[in-house]
Amino acid sequence: MVLAVEADDLWIGYLDDNDRNIWIIHDASFKVSMGEIYCIVGESGCGKSTLGKAIVGILPPHAETRGVLKIVGETVIRDRDHYYRKVRGRIVSLIPQNPGQALHPYLRIRDQFKYVLRSRYRGIGEDEIRERSYEALRIVGLDPGEVYDSYPHELSGGMQQRTAIALALSTGSRILVADEPTSSLDAHLRMQILRLLERLNRELGLTIIMITHDLLQARKICGRIMVLYAGHIVEEGSVEDVYGNPLHPYTKLLLDTIPILGSRKKLKTIPGEPPEPGKYMVGCPFHPRCPYRMEKCLIETPPTINAGEHRVSCWLYSRNGPAGT
Ligand SMILES: Nc1ncnc2c1ncn2[C@@H]1O[C@H](COP(=O)(O)OP(=O)(O)O)[C@@H](O)[C@H]1O
Ligand SMILES: [Mg+2]
Repeated sequence: MVLAVEADDLWIGYLDDNDRNIWIIHDASFKVSMGEIYCIVGESGCGKSTLGKAIVGILPPHAETRGVLKIVGETVIRDRDHYYRKVRGRIVSLIPQNPGQALHPYLRIRDQFKYVLRSRYRGIGEDEIRERSYEALRIVGLDPGEVYDSYPHELSGGMQQRTAIALALSTGSRILVADEPTSSLDAHLRMQILRLLERLNRELGLTIIMITHDLLQARKICGRIMVLYAGHIVEEGSVEDVYGNPLHPYTKLLLDTIPILGSRKKLKTIPGEPPEPGKYMVGCPFHPRCPYRMEKCLIETPPTINAGEHRVSCWLYSRNGPAGT
C-alpha cells in the first residue's frame, strides 16, 4: 500500500548568519498511512513546524536537508534536492496556525479560490470555479452565499480557519498538515475545528497530520502520535500505547504536566530547558533533564527499540543493558 508520508533518516536544518548549518530535525524516520490522523507533539521550538513545512514543501531557501522524504510514493526530498512540483498544493496542503497566513487580506474569498484553482487547473472556467468553491465551503460547514463575496476580515476567526481548510480542499489535496490549527481560536471554537478535521478524515478519507503542543488535543483526535524532543523522535505509537503506557521519560513527564480538569493542584513543569539548537551534544538529547539518567546516556546515542508499533529511543529499554555492560 502506498504511504501518505515516508521519511527516512531525514535531517532538516537552517543556515545561520555565518552560513553555518544548524540541524533542527535529526535523523527522523517515520511513516504515515493514507487515511490516518497522525499527530506530531512536542514543546515549542522542538521543530514541529519545520517538519510540517518539509512535508508540504514550503521550507525557506536557507533550509538544508539530508535523507529522503516521500509523499504518496513521490520522492520530494532526496538529500539536498527537492522535487515538490507534483504534490505541493495538489496532494498535500498546509492548514496554518493562523488563517491569516493562508488568506490574503485584500482579496475577496472568491478571488482566493479563483487564484488557487487557476494555478491548479489550467483553463478552468468561472462556473467550475464557483462550483468547486461552493462545494468546498459546504464541506467545511460554511454557507457559501455568505462567505464567497466577503473579505477575510469580515469573517470570524472560526470562519476564516474553515475557509482556509476549504481552500486547501478545493484543489483536491488528500493530505492536510494542520499546524496548531486551533491555537488562534477561542476555546469554544477549538473543538469545532477538531471535529471538522475528524469529519474530513472519516467522511472523505483525508490523511490529517496534526501538529500540536497540546497533548489533550492530540489525544482527542489522533490515531498515532510522534513525540518530538529537540528535533529527535523520542517515542511513537498509537494513542492508546503512548498515553496508556508511555515509555520515554520525556513523554512521562510531559503527560504529568497535563492539567487535570477541576483540580487545584499546582501545574507541574519539567525542570530545565531543551538544548539550544546547534549546540553540540553527545548521548541522549534529553539526558540533562532526565530523572532516570545513567552514565551511558551521556555518552552514546540511545538505540530505538520497537515493541510492535510502539517505539522508543531510550537506553532504559535496551536489551544490551542500559549501563553499557
Ligand atoms: N525560517 C527559519 N530560519 C531559521 N531558524 C528557524 C526558522 N524557523 C524555525 N527556526 C528555528 O528552528 C527551531 C524549531 O522551530 P519550529 O520548527 O518553529 O518549532 P515548533 O514549531 O516546534 O515551535 C527553533 O530553534 C527556531 O528558532
Ligand atoms: Mg510551530
